[in-house]
Amino acid sequence: MKKILIVSDNEFLNLLYVMNLEVYLAVNTTLVFSVAGAIEALKSKEKFDLILTLEIVNKEATPKSLENHLKSFGLKIPMIITGASQDELIGQNIFGVIGKFNIQGILKTSAKILGITAKQMAELDVGAYYPVSIPPLLGFSKAPCQIFTQNEKSYKSLVRSDDPMGDLLVDLNKKGIQQVFVNSKDRLVITNKMSLTLIEKITASLKNLDGTPVEKKVQALSDGYEFAAANLFSSDEIKQQMQEIATASGKVMQDVAKDSASVKSLLAVMMSNRDGYIFTHSMIVSYVAYHMIKNVTWGGEGQVEKINFVLFFHDIFLAPIYLKHPELKIESALLENSKLDEKEKDIVLNHAKLAAELVVGYKRCPMGADILIKQHHGMKKGKGFVKFYMEDLSPLSKIILIAEMFVEELMKSQEEKIPFNAKLVIPKLISEFKSPSYTKMVQSLVNVPL
Ligand SMILES: [Fe+2]
Ligand SMILES: [Fe+2]
Repeated sequence: MKKILIVSDNEFLNLLYVMNLEVYLAVNTTLVFSVAGAIEALKSKEKFDLILTLEIVNKEATPKSLENHLKSFGLKIPMIITGASQDELIGQNIFGVIGKFNIQGILKTSAKILGITAKQMAELDVGAYYPVSIPPLLGFSKAPCQIFTQNEKSYKSLVRSDDPMGDLLVDLNKKGIQQVFVNSKDRLVITNKMSLTLIEKITASLKNLDGTPVEKKVQALSDGYEFAAANLFSSDEIKQQMQEIATASGKVMQDVAKDSASVKSLLAVMMSNRDGYIFTHSMIVSYVAYHMIKNVTWGGEGQVEKINFVLFFHDIFLAPIYLKHPELKIESALLENSKLDEKEKDIVLNHAKLAAELVVGYKRCPMGADILIKQHHGMKKGKGFVKFYMEDLSPLSKIILIAEMFVEELMKSQEEKIPFNAKLVIPKLISEFKSPSYTKMVQSLVNVPL
């Protein structure tokens, strides 16, 4: 069996990486939480065929440290960096995968390096029972399927599906047992349930952020957002549960808006986090919209909540495209960008409609959120980008349109390193939107602390 060393300090990714690599590639994994832990593992007797590491672990740039270690010990172990800035060969024997939640990409790159072909993966002769290591199973509160222990050549049932199992596994682990077994046909049940469990965990962590600094809140939001964006094409059950992350995120986004003194300070947090354009601009739009809403008579907590739910989803179908092309910026310019293929351009054209269709089936979707999402580029049917802004959109739709355009201007000046001047931008926006109902709202932008 091939062995993979996983270096990650992200509790969600730890579970995902270990479980998916074991289940899909039939490999053995060792998980460490720091560079020091990785170096210790590399110095041990164990031989690793591959290192899979986050780009930053415990605020330390992992690849460089590990590369230096490998070089000085003459080790030639290939390395995959997740959350990297490019999706290809980065250095000798070092490969990048851009999205750290992009499990498909990570599995594909790992399989290629380890010489496991798709055919082999499909034909993987795993026998009737399949080993799973205990640590990722501890992430489940109940057994995802029946679990067995091995006694020489026979297998004994440890727990049935849906029974509590935490203590049993901990006891086994204490006795030095590293693995348990599942029926081979249940392997895919486990990965699906793992995703559902992760949604619960991400939601719980979002609900548990009171009193933490803005950086921590943004980090949690970013994890939830990336997870959701990576699961747009998962099972219906997973897509349905994603609304829990969105609802919990909406509240945290509001707290972030309340706790941040200015756009500048929030932007600084986002930049140091190196979050993608889509997530960053959604957060800043949320901040701007919060301050606009605060100053209109009909605005209240309910409106802010709805706007944040809308912002969470409005561009989520673009997230994979921006991940693949991190240099991309303004949405409406994407259609003319030669780097995008036809399929990607089709998604750009329809991203508002696609996102609206995703949320419309949600049981606890805030009233009208799907329409706000569909109209976030001013087009009633959610296809394309408007040139002339219509009068008969809802006030919340208008707030979102204005806040988005303001933030585009802000990010443009940030990009071009020219100081942002609201006194110039506000008249520009007024002439862009033309009609009087917009003008009043645009003027409320003076209330946004820059
Ligand atoms: Fe947007
Ligand atoms: Fe959009």
